[in-house]
Parts: sequence; structure tokens; C-alpha cells
Amino acid sequence: MSIDNMTDEVAALIEPTGVDAVSFRGATRYYPKSDVAALDGFDLEVSAGEFMVLVGPSGSGKSTALRMLAGLEGVDAGSIHIGDVDVTHLPPIQRDIAMVFQDYALYPHMTVAENIGFHLKVAKVSRAEITARVNVTAEMLGLTPYLGRRPAALSGGQRQRVAMGRAIIRRPKVFLMDEPLSNLDAKLRTQTRNEIARLQRDLGITTIYVTHDQVEAMTMGDRVAVLRDGALQQCDRPKRLYQRPANTFVATFMGTPSMALLDAHLDGEAAALPGHAPIALTREQRAALTGGHVIVGVRPDAVSVVPAGQGIPGTVEVIEELGNESFLYVRAELAGQSATIAVQDRDGVMEIAPGAMVGLRVSPDMVHLFDGGTGLRLPD
Ligand SMILES: Nc1ncnc2c1ncn2[C@@H]1O[C@H](COP(=O)(O)OP(=O)(O)O)[C@@H](O)[C@H]1O
Ligand SMILES: [Mg+2]
Repeated sequence: MSIDNMTDEVAALIEPTGVDAVSFRGATRYYPKSDVAALDGFDLEVSAGEFMVLVGPSGSGKSTALRMLAGLEGVDAGSIHIGDVDVTHLPPIQRDIAMVFQDYALYPHMTVAENIGFHLKVAKVSRAEITARVNVTAEMLGLTPYLGRRPAALSGGQRQRVAMGRAIIRRPKVFLMDEPLSNLDAKLRTQTRNEIARLQRDLGITTIYVTHDQVEAMTMGDRVAVLRDGALQQCDRPKRLYQRPANTFVATFMGTPSMALLDAHLDGEAAALPGHAPIALTREQRAALTGGHVIVGVRPDAVSVVPAGQGIPGTVEVIEELGNESFLYVRAELAGQSATIAVQDRDGVMEIAPGAMVGLRVSPDMVHLFDGGTGLRLPD
């Protein structure tokens, strides 16, 4: 059942009590005995009702950011706001936030109904209201048949939904999820990811979702914030992150197979790639360079295979057949550097075996250009 098919009275049992924006302003966290910030001057504005995803490799500060917002971790500099309220120093209970953790943290001795209703019971909500709200929440999550079971008798996906139910039943202003799908197998992950996105749209609740999986980030978020080493790299709509990555880190992190990065040097008005026709740079691009080096970023759709002897010489290492598409991974040799470049085989017709010598031709208008010194994107 989705919230649209419910009567107003029933929907009111689970709709959030309010929808607020969240803002991190220079939020910084040093863990005890560490002189490196786990989160460093973090600025992020999440709009009311938005689905924001934080993505980045392990250790990049995603959980720290969520825990600071929830009040589970201190803020050493900067501030955090929910709506008009500066919550930086508010205890967790006063922040109106619910969080779903990676391990779900269900109570093993309680039934599904008791787990879902737990926070309401603690808050001394009447038994009749708890029952009504548990029933609506369970219905929405497809858990009605399991209300009497204990967590041990549930599948991983069902446990995940109980954890979600326990959080949304509180009608929080902000909903936080920290890698909630990492214990599920691949198929269930895809399915659950769609369910969570639908639930978020139905409830319209401001949500911050943490994952290290860039596919999850791209498919779920209204916007995606990419973190690395405690620092925000870029925050934008998924498509823009893919089309206009702000630096080489975002460029290689988002997209599978990864973008290949090739070193080129400035030769007159163009970037010279060994074995390849020069790639022309605009006046603005040349002006933005901090030195004589350019990084040419090549996604699989920006390169094609040509007969050996033409283009950049390479050797086919691996052929990846994905059914509807396939990729060749070509080890390319460019004077002094070798790089693996993934090539999309659009029609699946290339009759090439691993070990074959080929040439690669890059489409100059489809490459991404970055400064060789800073790794920052050159103006388009
Ligand atoms: N309780 C802690 N004490 C000390 N250091 C921590 C603690 N939790 C996390 N860290 C460190 O802070 C950094 C960010 O961690 P975390 O926010 O957990 O990253 P992520 O969630 O992106 O994997 C890492 O370097 C991690 O080792
Ligand atoms: Mg984490």
C-alpha cells in the first residue's frame, strides 16, 4: 500500500510531523587523539523533502557526517542546522531525527510489531495508537504477515524493512540511513533500493542516505554529495556528476567501468597524447592551466577500437560480456605511461580475443579535461 491510497486519517499516522531543510556549515570533527579531521569544513545544504546521498570510499567521513547530524558525535568547529534551529549542541533526542544503521540493530527478543513500535512505547504513546501506527507502517512495508515473528525468523530483506519501519513510525523530520542495504544480496539490493526511493517520495521526508556504492548513489539520490578524506568534492544531480565531474577523483569514482586518465602535455594550443592526434584546448582551458600538463579523461563511450597500427597502440586484456553490452579492457602504451582503457563495444560485434593487438581512437569532443597539477576540471 502506498500513502496515496490511504485515507487522510490513516496517512496522518505515519506522515512526518514536519519537513525541514538540513544544513552543515563548516562542520568539522576530529576524533580523540587524531590530528586529521574525519570531516573537514563540511558545507552541505539539503532542501526540505530532498533525498540526498553521501557517497565516497570507506573512511571518507560519511558516517561521521550522519552521526554529527544525529547528535551521536561532537562537532569541533562549524555548525549544523535543521530548519531554523541550530542543533549543533542539542542532545539527540531533541533533534527529531530517525536513523537506520547498517546492522539494523533490531531487538532479537522482541517481535516485529514490538520492534517497530519500540520508540513509541518508550515515548509512552497509548497502546491503541501504537497498534494503529504499527499496523499502517507494517502494511506500507509489506510486513503485516510477519508482525508476530522475531527477527531471527526473517530474511535479510525483511529485517531491513523492520528497521525502516521502526524509524519512519516516529514521523521524524529527518531520516538518516547509513549503508542500509550492505547486508543484502545483489538482487535484493536493487529491489530494496527502489522501494526506499518510493517510500521516501511517498512520505516526502528529508532524507540523507549514505553509501559507498556509486550505482546506488546515482540511482537513488535527487542529488549526490561525493566525499573523499573528510572533504566534500562535489554535490550535484547524478547526471551532472557524471557529465561534468569537478575533478579527477569524482570522474573516476562515478561510472562503471571507470574513466581512464591519460597524461598529456601542452603543445602549443593543444594537449598532445602520444600516438594520437592533438586534442585542441580553448583559450579558457589554456588560461586555467597551472602548468604544462593536462589530464585527458576517457570514458568507455569516448573511445573506439581501430586496426592495430592506427591510433594509440594497445593489447586487449579482458572482454567483459554483460549481455546487453560488452566492454573491452585494453592496456594502452603511450610513451612512458601505460593505462587500462575500457572501451564500450556498442553493437557487441567486435571479433577480438584477449591478447589481440589493437589501436584506440579517442573522440576529442567526448573527453574530459583536467589540470595536471590540481586535478580540477578545465572549463568546458
Ligand atoms: N570512533 C572513531 N574513533 C576514531 N576514529 C574514527 C572513529 N570513527 C571513524 N574514525 C575515522 O574517521 C574517518 C572517517 O570515518 P567514517 O566517517 O566512519 O567514514 P565512512 O563512513 O565514510 O567509511 C576514518 O579515517 C575513520 O578511521
Ligand atoms: Mg561508514
